Amino acid sequence: MSLKVFVLKYKNQLKAMNPKYDEIFSLSDNEPIRFRDKDKVKMTFASIADTHLVNNEAATVNLNNFFQDLKNADGKFDAVLMAGDIADYGLKSEYNRFFDVFDKYKNEHKLFVTMGNHDVRFTFGKNQKIIMNKAEEYLGIKTNRKSFYSYDVNGYTIIVIGTEKRVLEKAHITKEQIDFLDKELARATKDGKPAFVMCHQAFAFTHGLPEVWKTGDMGEQNDDVRAVMEKYKNVFFINGHLHGGVFEKTFEVLNEENNVYSLSIPGYRKKNNFGYTDCGTGYYGEIYDDKVIFTARKFVEGKRVEAEYSRFEIELK
Ligand SMILES: [Fe+2]
Repeated sequence: MSLKVFVLKYKNQLKAMNPKYDEIFSLSDNEPIRFRDKDKVKMTFASIADTHLVNNEAATVNLNNFFQDLKNADGKFDAVLMAGDIADYGLKSEYNRFFDVFDKYKNEHKLFVTMGNHDVRFTFGKNQKIIMNKAEEYLGIKTNRKSFYSYDVNGYTIIVIGTEKRVLEKAHITKEQIDFLDKELARATKDGKPAFVMCHQAFAFTHGLPEVWKTGDMGEQNDDVRAVMEKYKNVFFINGHLHGGVFEKTFEVLNEENNVYSLSIPGYRKKNNFGYTDCGTGYYGEIYDDKVIFTARKFVEGKRVEAEYSRFEIELK
């Protein structure tokens, strides 16, 4: 190998490792999102996870593409669910980057945020405050310095839970949170409506755990949280963290009899690990009187995901 080729190869390897050089995607408006039936749809939301924002231009552009793709849709998106790991290093500047982008769209959607392990691994208290203050600001609610809340959009309840302390990659879900979840799910589902719960971490042994991500599950309170979720009918659990992609284990049933499901949102910033692996991908949900539809979308380019496991349609019970 000549010296020139060697240097070039080395430079390219360095570039690939350096977040400064994240790819910047351009958004197309040729394939706008179209709902199954925009006259009958009762609530719509889009969900992404693991944006892992760093301080580079790509972070802003690629995140902006997500919101702009929602704006280009043939129909309105009521809510956005960001399933945690908003920032990569948990820096204030990274959160400013996220919320500065969202501020341009804040009149279009209700934003739901939760904390991922990257958000709180260095500075729990400070970042919990940043994130929960934003939940308060955008939804007009009070969180009382806790990591959980719920809010109704068009009559459908979205419940957010999250860690109350730093426990490496997992979550610490307090008894207070579990009781809150129980009470809120009882209220939300009493008239037969579906309810949605979001947490960064998934349940143990779901979505290919632990093989897909060794330390990827919720942690100590896993079984207690899951037991509460399985008590109620038509509950949909949205989570991130696993960077799985769109593959056979992206969506799975937690309790067949009660119609309780879990959806693992692919990671937004980086290439995912299984099946359809493109970054910039998430899912959007359409809620109808009789069903819920989840569809994968490469938001960062405004493209449909033509792959197996990209659409799930669940009849409500
Ligand atoms: Fe994570």
